[in-house]
Amino acid sequence: MRKVMTLVVLLTMLTQVQAEQATHQPVTARDIHSFAKPELVSVTHLDLDLRVDFERRVIQGLVGLELARHDPQAALILDSRDLTIKHVFLADKSTPTPFSLGQPQPHLGSSLTIQLPPDCNTVYVEYETSPDAKALQWLQPSQTAGKQQPFLFSQSQAVLARTWIPCQDSPAVRTTYNAQVKVPPAALAVMSAANPQAKRADGVYQFEMKQPIPAYLLALAVGDIEFRAMGARSGIYAEPSVVEAAAWEFAQTERMIAAAEELYGPYRWDRYDILVLPPSFPFGGMENPRLTFATPTVLAGDRSLVALIAHELAHSWSGNLVTNATWNDFWLNEGFTVYFEHRIMEAVNGRGFDEMWAQLGKDGLRREMEELKPRDTWLHLDLAGRDPDDGLTDVAYEKGYLFLRMLEEAVGRDKWDPFLRSYFDKFAFQSMTTDRFLRYLDAELVSKESQEVQDSLRIEEWVYGPGLPSNEPTIVAEELDQIATESERFATGTTAAELQVDNWTTHHWLQFLRSLKRPLPTKQMEDLDRQFKFSDSGNSEILHDWLLHGIAAEYEPAMQPLYDFLTKQGRRKFLMPLYEELWKSEAGRKRAADIYRAARPTYHPLAVDSVDRLLKWDASPPAH
Ligand code: BES
Ligand code: ZN
Repeated sequence: MRKVMTLVVLLTMLTQVQAEQATHQPVTARDIHSFAKPELVSVTHLDLDLRVDFERRVIQGLVGLELARHDPQAALILDSRDLTIKHVFLADKSTPTPFSLGQPQPHLGSSLTIQLPPDCNTVYVEYETSPDAKALQWLQPSQTAGKQQPFLFSQSQAVLARTWIPCQDSPAVRTTYNAQVKVPPAALAVMSAANPQAKRADGVYQFEMKQPIPAYLLALAVGDIEFRAMGARSGIYAEPSVVEAAAWEFAQTERMIAAAEELYGPYRWDRYDILVLPPSFPFGGMENPRLTFATPTVLAGDRSLVALIAHELAHSWSGNLVTNATWNDFWLNEGFTVYFEHRIMEAVNGRGFDEMWAQLGKDGLRREMEELKPRDTWLHLDLAGRDPDDGLTDVAYEKGYLFLRMLEEAVGRDKWDPFLRSYFDKFAFQSMTTDRFLRYLDAELVSKESQEVQDSLRIEEWVYGPGLPSNEPTIVAEELDQIATESERFATGTTAAELQVDNWTTHHWLQFLRSLKRPLPTKQMEDLDRQFKFSDSGNSEILHDWLLHGIAAEYEPAMQPLYDFLTKQGRRKFLMPLYEELWKSEAGRKRAADIYRAARPTYHPLAVDSVDRLLKWDASPPAH
């Protein structure tokens, strides 16, 4: 009897694990940013055959989609945007089946509806991408470090996977995938999958991603890419001239993985590699599974900006394992990840150091919230009719972080850490809504606390209310207090040479620059620059903050560095504030236009969209 019971228990556990891993879990919330109806027919696996054509700047694709048919009558609905659909075939890859494309909608593209005969569980779509596909950036050799070969990379989050693969582009739909990718012989191809570590003479690469992932994590990069191991399960992919510096900068990666596992359970994706992209990569980092994509602007030469790696690594749990069900729930990805990032950084570099980073984050949140509409400062967003990119503010990141830290401090780490760990285990490979998380939080943690503790949390206010509730956690970054004193002294006449800046790190300098008023008098700009050489800073974060002062003060010696910075890298987080600052004055607007005219062709389509909007740039070709 005992044995039978054990068997039953074991079997139940097994089916639970299988259910968790299954690719067609119940869909919990309507995703307003996808045309797909996965509750009727869902895609469970993609079989990709891609040819990368650098001359024409297109990908020619044949994708096989394996289906789970929940309603036998229903057609398959996919997302597509700017794709040319050539044929749709049944499983034999030769019998055509009818399909239709819906009217294109802003941000979303067109639905692709495919008729399915009974018992049909696989269809093949033959298609080609547009040279303007928003997820893809095609780089000229001159835009790479090596200057010899072209480069291609994708950025699918949030809803751009559909511009290079017809798919159910909703974070609530997970698929496994295989791919064969044909590239020019001198190039290496890598994906968010098990990756090659060396080039192949024929330029044909095979990939397998055996864990189910949402479409926004589909990723591809092609170029003169080399691999270099850092540890047993981590390594760097980058252009040959960048690999060495990147491996040095990110040498703490193995320790970060160990720290993360210690906190919240095993790393479930086998390898963790980092691809350092050319400088036009529009983000700091992107958590493509097994292969984080990272900007080279974090290669500061002193490891001071590696929190970015902790962040993208943390997404291997928060985001890639437990995934926001819709983009309104984005804070479940990013807020949890910032929280986890801080815990990793605390474990690797100590509490004091990490508190400074947390303080800088919180100050940034306060500044940004002043500009946002109150509704956009709720954790739970309402992005109906909008680009999900609009949700990409500090609210999801920093308010999300502060909310989770408040909970941690209210119940204590001895309860909070096991809770989070069980959350990642229980919902691994599933999607999560805000509501479902709050119910789980209440059942497993909050309801077990005293009434007094429960009343103190103000959960509703945090999630469904504006701004920061009054029980916001206090960050203890004493070292930064000393900086207020120094910037005060500078403001009241102390010279730069007399400031006490011994042992200041990047974090101190950022706090210092942010606490100086803008614009500073030219004499003070000169004094600072002479003493601290900010205009020549090789640290992108410090340079960015300095250039904001440079623009505001119309400080001439910063104008060439500004031009160089805006034309040599395309990280949107740096571009936007600088162009915004330029936009504030007449002379600045002219300068912005001059710089942007040169820089625009080098920026990623996402960055181009953002800067076009900001500068009210007319992108239409001049009339004859
Ligand atoms: N997943 C995000 C990037 C993203 C979010 C791309 C939404 C497109 C839509 C990534 O994990 C991220 O948060 N990157 C940050 C860096 C991080 C250290 C805060 C970035 O790129 O600035
Ligand atoms: Zn993130």
